[in-house]
Amino acid sequence: MKKEKIRALAIDGPAGAGKSTIARAVSRELGWIYVDTGAMFRAVALFFLREGIRPDDADGIRDRISEVLVTLGYENGEQQVYLNGENVSGMIRTEEVGNMASACSVYPEVRQKLLELQRALAVRQPVVMDGRDIGTVVLPDAETKVYLTASVEVRARRRYRELQEKGAACDIAEIEKDIRERDWRDMHRETAPLRQAEDAVLVDSSCMTAAEVTEEILALVRREEV
Ligand code: DC
Repeated sequence: MKKEKIRALAIDGPAGAGKSTIARAVSRELGWIYVDTGAMFRAVALFFLREGIRPDDADGIRDRISEVLVTLGYENGEQQVYLNGENVSGMIRTEEVGNMASACSVYPEVRQKLLELQRALAVRQPVVMDGRDIGTVVLPDAETKVYLTASVEVRARRRYRELQEKGAACDIAEIEKDIRERDWRDMHRETAPLRQAEDAVLVDSSCMTAAEVTEEILALVRREEV
């Protein structure tokens, strides 16, 4: 029997491919809510960083994950992420938290905790959801799936420019190394690794502008709507 599709756009891909920029633009055009699942993993990572629990401390992570409650809210259309009731949206965008999120996301207990919340959000309303396992695990019945990627060099350059604009000291070789490590970990973990779903459309943004990528993805969603 053919499974019912749900009205959702799943965008997966490696760090720095531009998923959040594109997902935000597409969700605005469609009037759907945007769910940034990376922010949920980052909130969990912040909890463990604050508690001084190392990412390789499997027992510590498994024992303490039950103390973590991640919830989402929206302010002026922007997603806010709450860690045990505290709005941590402004504290999770550092490289340290991103790398910790990648390291913590290998634990099935961490993934399970967030999976239920992610699915519940998509049941209530049409969503644009981005992450690593949305098309493969979280929303396998999403109507439209995109695997958004770009070369490591392009992703490192984009990140470098972003950090420079913020006035942060950064080294492009260091950023590239971080990206390669994060790609490897996200693609090789046992539970829900990053990979392109069989029914996802591959979009390589290496030589595209954000506007071009947004248009291409909107066209894919609208093709499903007719
Ligand atoms: O997209 P991001 O950089 O904010 O994600 C941070 C980390 O969280 C990423 O390196 C791996 C993990 N993550 C995940 O495992 N699954 C998701 N759906 C989203 C993020």
